[in-house]
Amino acid sequence: MKPLLITIDGPSGAGKSTVSRRLSERIGYTYVDTGALYRAVALAALTEGCAADDDTRLAEICRHLILKFQNTSKGPRLYANGHDITARIRTPEISMLASAVSARPVVRTYLLDVQRKMGKGGGVVFEGRDMGTVVFPEADIKFYLDADPETRALRRYKELAEKHAATSLAEVREAMKKRDEDDSSRALAPLKPAPDAIRIDSTDLEIEQVVEVLLRHIEKRTK
Ligand code: DC
Repeated sequence: MKPLLITIDGPSGAGKSTVSRRLSERIGYTYVDTGALYRAVALAALTEGCAADDDTRLAEICRHLILKFQNTSKGPRLYANGHDITARIRTPEISMLASAVSARPVVRTYLLDVQRKMGKGGGVVFEGRDMGTVVFPEADIKFYLDADPETRALRRYKELAEKHAATSLAEVREAMKKRDEDDSSRALAPLKPAPDAIRIDSTDLEIEQVVEVLLRHIEKRTK
């Protein structure tokens, strides 16, 4: 059977990352976290002192940015020009900046190309916001994973608390609301389900249960 291209879109805190990673492990596929790519551009902009709306400098930054994922015993790592940036892109500051740079056409055009190259040949689970709508409209199976906003905020808060980040649930809730609104209302590739996406609500489901639901859909489609 030909290797499939699977997309999983949805807002932050819906469980996309863990679900996508587990799913890819179960079916032996490569996992690509496209949010990490936007975060990498944000980190490069921050390091260079480039404003999130400075398109000329953002274009220059993208031109010199080589992004590579590598699977290691510590899970997938992201390298920017040879440097492991996996941990550094997970701060609340980078989350907001990634959302801001992701609205810029120069950044989206650059990453569109990077993502499509990563998808050549299939056998990949792509996780993001516009995977099924813009980057891979021809994907074999598309999922849209969502959960109610309070559940998503609580999940994100727990994740940050585990990393000892000094932030409150109220701050996480506010930041998430802003990011959701920005990501959904931007002109270019806004967050929304593809018309042919299978929609799943993970509010009352454990990660493993969501993975099982996805696997059942994949089996049904490939029978
Ligand atoms: O999934 P994440 O929280 O790591 O994504 C960070 C930001 O990147 C998110 O707020 C919006 C942007 N993003 C995007 O615009 N398109 C994608 N395919 C993935 C992420």
